[in-house]
Amino acid sequence: MAGLIPQWFIDDLLNRADVVDIIDSRIELKKAGHEFKACCPFHNEKTPSFTVSPTKQFYHCFGCGAHGTALSFLMEYDHMDFVEAVETLAAQQGMEVPHEQGVQPEKLRADDNLFDILQQAGDYYRNQLKQNQAAINYLKDRGLSGEIAAEYGMGYAPSGWDNLTKLFGESKLNQLKESGMLTENESGKVYDRFRDRIMFPIRDRRGRTIGFGGRIMGSDSGAKYLNSPETPVFHKGKELYGLYEARQAVRKLESFYVVEGYMDVIALAQHGVRNVVATLGTATTSDHLKQLFRIVPEIVFCFDGDRAGRDAAWRALENALPIMRDGYIIRFLFLPDGEDPDSMIREHGKIEFDRLASKAQTLSAFFFDRLSQDIDMDSADGRSRLAQLAQPYLQKLPGGVFHEIMLDQLAELTGLSADRLSKVTQLNQEPAIRKPDKPAQRQKNPHIRHLITLLLQRPDLAQLVESTDEVADLDLPGSDLLKDLLAFLHDRPDAHTGAILEHWRDNEYGKHLAKLALTEIELDAHRLEAEFKDTLSKLEHFRRNSRKQILAKIARGELPTAEEKAVLQQTANPADNNENL
Ligand code: CTP
Ligand code: MN
Repeated sequence: MAGLIPQWFIDDLLNRADVVDIIDSRIELKKAGHEFKACCPFHNEKTPSFTVSPTKQFYHCFGCGAHGTALSFLMEYDHMDFVEAVETLAAQQGMEVPHEQGVQPEKLRADDNLFDILQQAGDYYRNQLKQNQAAINYLKDRGLSGEIAAEYGMGYAPSGWDNLTKLFGESKLNQLKESGMLTENESGKVYDRFRDRIMFPIRDRRGRTIGFGGRIMGSDSGAKYLNSPETPVFHKGKELYGLYEARQAVRKLESFYVVEGYMDVIALAQHGVRNVVATLGTATTSDHLKQLFRIVPEIVFCFDGDRAGRDAAWRALENALPIMRDGYIIRFLFLPDGEDPDSMIREHGKIEFDRLASKAQTLSAFFFDRLSQDIDMDSADGRSRLAQLAQPYLQKLPGGVFHEIMLDQLAELTGLSADRLSKVTQLNQEPAIRKPDKPAQRQKNPHIRHLITLLLQRPDLAQLVESTDEVADLDLPGSDLLKDLLAFLHDRPDAHTGAILEHWRDNEYGKHLAKLALTEIELDAHRLEAEFKDTLSKLEHFRRNSRKQILAKIARGELPTAEEKAVLQQTANPADNNENL
């Protein structure tokens, strides 16, 4: 994706935007020396280990390792994709994002048209709601206030077959079809998809309307709910109803309830439970869960206690296992038969709902309950059967504390030792294949590494190297990166550390650079310069004596000096050095 927006623009953008501003407008930063600190927004902590450097223009959390630039912060914290983050940042700087030719800009333009249409359709439905007493009464009967209905952008689609075509005009017919707002019958007749329905706009995380759900008001004929189909801007397996509204309502979310229906989300919100999202008539996917876990450490599924609800919960559990990192919490709240969150909170109120929620089952309790439901746990056979059943699931868990806790619980339930179980549960895992020892990488050159570190500390040092020719014929590990880095900084003498990291973000060197950028070198400005020059000359010396040249010299029939012999040894590839074999 990055390729579609020219790299020069991203570099430029990062040089103008201030990572401190961006982060400070979202979480409260406190000044600490040259830097800013806060409790990390990406993991739960009590003492701040999240640091933002105004000079390097990047952030780093010493607790969870999260790090990046203004762009990556927007991506992680606001859950934007790369293009969205660039656009947001650019808009703040009053810059227009140029797009290189290709299919993508056209797609973006087409998507923009769809967003416009969906937004206008939503406005139209909201307007219609104001004029339709039956619809207003329906919402009132369901206990909703005007404020909540407005917050969720609810509306009413009047009856009739061609309201939208009339509203938008024939010229928009194709776009209306593409947006999913029109549907077509077998004989090719096109008409409004949503008629005489209460409308729920579905918004993406930036608040753009991407589709609708519509509910009939009576309980008579026809499907109770109708949803927009998949369109270029609406993908059910990715979107969560209510996520945008929850993030608008609560500054610091700590957990999410995942419920099944639109009305469940809105009814809970009406009663002051604002941290609620619903999947859109689909199972909860890993994609959904990852999105939520990027915002909160805890997810509580709140499903019906009936068979369908428990099956849905189990599917959610299966999708959760592979992403269960340490610190994530999943719990299950099963409501009494016949209740859903909407009816529950209306009848019993928030206090009772909170009480039930506080007793929600842990993932492991639900997991082992369900697996052992048809097993006689009093018999040894039964207990080993449980171990067998659990095995394929536990194997899906990433290693870590949670995995160990699950094993411990299984051990307790089965009476088998955790040690033994961990062997059993690893049976089906791919055997760790011992790779033949590869010859070690060419020895890294300490000078190159140090120069790169210094440049990351103080990018302007690059100006001390007059031309990249000085390092042009280096052929050492890392020398290509050094050359590229110098060339980059010659082109953009104003680039700061964050801009460098962003430039190399998707590159194999990206991670490496981010690590080096963390090094704090406690030297004042001119000592740093001296250090840089000194390292350059050491490198130059090394280059003169570099392996390739020494070998060339030997090939010409000259004898190597003692120093050259040492260089040969230092740079030798272990594969051709008997001592190391
Ligand atoms: N759903 C759907 N299509 C249907 C039925 C249901 O997309 N034909 C989805 C909707 O998102 C709905 C959710 O599944 O909100 C739950 O459906 P259901 O339990 O039948 O409805 P409720 O949410 O209880 O709706 P209501 O309270 O309005 O009857
Ligand atoms: Mn309901």
